[in-house]
Amino acid sequence: MQHNSRQVVSNQPGPHHDVERRVARALAHPLRKPIADHTLQAFKQANAWYQQRQAPLILDAGCGVGLSTRRLAEQFPEHSVIGVDRSAERLGKDHGKLPDNALLIRADLVDFWRLAEQAGWGLERHYLLYPNPYPKAGHLKMRWHGHPVFPTLLALGGRLEVRSNWQLYVEEFAYALALVTGKQAEVVTFSPGDDYLTPFEAKYDQSGQTLWRLCIELERT
Ligand SMILES: C[S@@+](CC[C@H](N)C(=O)[O-])C[C@H]1O[C@@H](n2cnc3c(N)ncnc32)[C@H](O)[C@@H]1O
Repeated sequence: MQHNSRQVVSNQPGPHHDVERRVARALAHPLRKPIADHTLQAFKQANAWYQQRQAPLILDAGCGVGLSTRRLAEQFPEHSVIGVDRSAERLGKDHGKLPDNALLIRADLVDFWRLAEQAGWGLERHYLLYPNPYPKAGHLKMRWHGHPVFPTLLALGGRLEVRSNWQLYVEEFAYALALVTGKQAEVVTFSPGDDYLTPFEAKYDQSGQTLWRLCIELERT
């Protein structure tokens, strides 16, 4: 199928001048917002499944319809793969039976990541595939690296991979990540060929857009 998806348009000409301040604030003031009950229940379900399987864990954060969760589960049969998304509509799309080593959970990541950290989860791999860009300059705090939960998602450790069709998002993420961890992640372009991990990846690639990603190995802290 030929797609015609538009590039991200932003009123922000370069990396946001406030990234450093947002990260400093997130480090100084961990998020205290109460955990929503529905995510607490969803986390309990995910945790019970994970504990019972006793396999290294992959988190597909913002998995959308869960295609990437399925593909990762096939690619890593010895791992447990949990896909989390807050959209019931996306998760409800029927893509056939889930592999036994995959679980899809409806939850808000802001709460889910905090519960995972509190429960002592350590990730083997962590994917943030095409997160909402929130391209307006005024929306920096809604991008994951501008959000108060940022240090928590990094603290879960593992090999973190971020993909986006917006170069600036990944570059800002790398900058914020270096501020928290002291580690420098390289931002590169890549071409998925026909091997799309997610529907958004397919859509952007088939529209001729450049895709960006960073990968970094993080310690569980
Ligand atoms: C642009 S879509 C990408 C979906 C999928 N990763 C893909 O590439 O096809 C971003 C996804 O992140 C989810 N999302 C955004 N904020 C979230 C949050 N706070 N908690 C859980 N999911 C969230 C949205 O519901 C949406 O499905």
